[in-house]
Amino acid sequence: MEKRTKRNSFKGSIGFVLAAAGSAVGLGNIWRFPYLAAKDGGGMFLVIYIILALTFGFTLLITEVAIGRKTKQSPLTAYGRIRKKWRGMGVIACLVPVIILPYYCVIGGWVVKYFLLYISGNGESAVQEGYFSSYISGNVEPAVMMILFLIIVTFIVLRGVNKGIESFSKILMPLLVLLVIVIAVFSLTLHHTDESGVTRTGLQGLFVYVIPDFSQMTISRFFSIFMDAIGQLFFSLSVAMGIMIAYGSYVHDDANLKTSVNQIEIFDTVIAFLAGAMIIPAVYAFAGTEGMSAYGPGLMFVSLPKVFSSMGHIGTFVGCLFFAMVLFAALTSAISIMEAVVSSFMDKFSFSRRKAVVIVVIVALVAGLLVCFGYNILYFEAILPTGATAQILDIMDYMSNNILMPLVAIGTCILIGWIVKPKTIVDEVEKNGEKMGRKKLYVIMVKYIAPVMLFVLFLKSVGIF
Ligand code: ALA
Repeated sequence: MEKRTKRNSFKGSIGFVLAAAGSAVGLGNIWRFPYLAAKDGGGMFLVIYIILALTFGFTLLITEVAIGRKTKQSPLTAYGRIRKKWRGMGVIACLVPVIILPYYCVIGGWVVKYFLLYISGNGESAVQEGYFSSYISGNVEPAVMMILFLIIVTFIVLRGVNKGIESFSKILMPLLVLLVIVIAVFSLTLHHTDESGVTRTGLQGLFVYVIPDFSQMTISRFFSIFMDAIGQLFFSLSVAMGIMIAYGSYVHDDANLKTSVNQIEIFDTVIAFLAGAMIIPAVYAFAGTEGMSAYGPGLMFVSLPKVFSSMGHIGTFVGCLFFAMVLFAALTSAISIMEAVVSSFMDKFSFSRRKAVVIVVIVALVAGLLVCFGYNILYFEAILPTGATAQILDIMDYMSNNILMPLVAIGTCILIGWIVKPKTIVDEVEKNGEKMGRKKLYVIMVKYIAPVMLFVLFLKSVGIF
């Protein structure tokens, strides 16, 4: 069935780095990284995260990008090209973005709604008690917003690799960086006196964020911080979602893979850090350390609107900038998730881009509507193995992040580390005479350390630890 057709490629390495960084920088950076950093003793989490990014993250990222470039295939067919018997792995790797896309679009729709609220000057409504839960349980509007978000993503993916993904990443990513920096700087200048007369400043919040807190440090706490950092890194770098293989397949043969991968890692980590510098000082100044216990939708759609409201008039403007920034981050990630599936269908079945997009959009639309209805007409409460209560969105998130992604990553490490050997990747990275750097580390990581760490993460994710 597979046919080789002329493949598009990114025009330049900047285009690739921005598109891949756009994929990496998403909701995970904004709503989970700051929370984990605050919970795990600030600087301590940051140090562990950076060390892991340079070792574990680097290993997974360079492996996937190199698989893509070497095979010139997207995830569904790339594994089979590396080793025929491993074709099944491609199916699982392609299933991950199929599952993530619908619920990512539903959350994207919530972001569109909040952006519209703030830009129309109605941000105050978001502060009313129960606003968010009553909004998402509405029958019509969340579905309409999800469709709106999906249309924007579809429009960009339909335009293809250069005119769509690359061009839009070149516009959206610099805007995103600018917005994050502006909001982070503003956040540091904040100060607020609460009803009991206590004044807290954004700068104090920054110290809470960056200064390591070694008090109560025990081995089990260290282990828990370590696992938090691995889990976060894994989702944040967009590895094991098929995306980096698809994007890697569009990289020119003469591009320097090592440099590009380093740049993507730095970009993702710096934005995650800045997201913390943007959110933690503001939440700390207005809600103290207790306010920092929210994450996920609770942080973004419930706690932060309260912070914006306490800022007075300027809060509407800051809320508007904030949700514009989140929208850009969510869009560039959703584009990459859709592209991983579209390019898989194009490679496997020789579909035109248009045909592949239509099929992927129909699936995402139907599943996205089910996710929306999971908060109203199809509402139920399931208990996940981790103990959390779940609706359809959480179940899909659990299936992809906790089960399939660790399995794909473990399988990739075994395939590269033990079956075809790390030299396959090293040769691909060095094929233009570049030195890979951290080569020995890479071999040890991909063969031994990464699979073991991933296995422990998997056990933790399924609630065994
Ligand atoms: N890496 C993307 C995120 O952080 C998917 O949301």
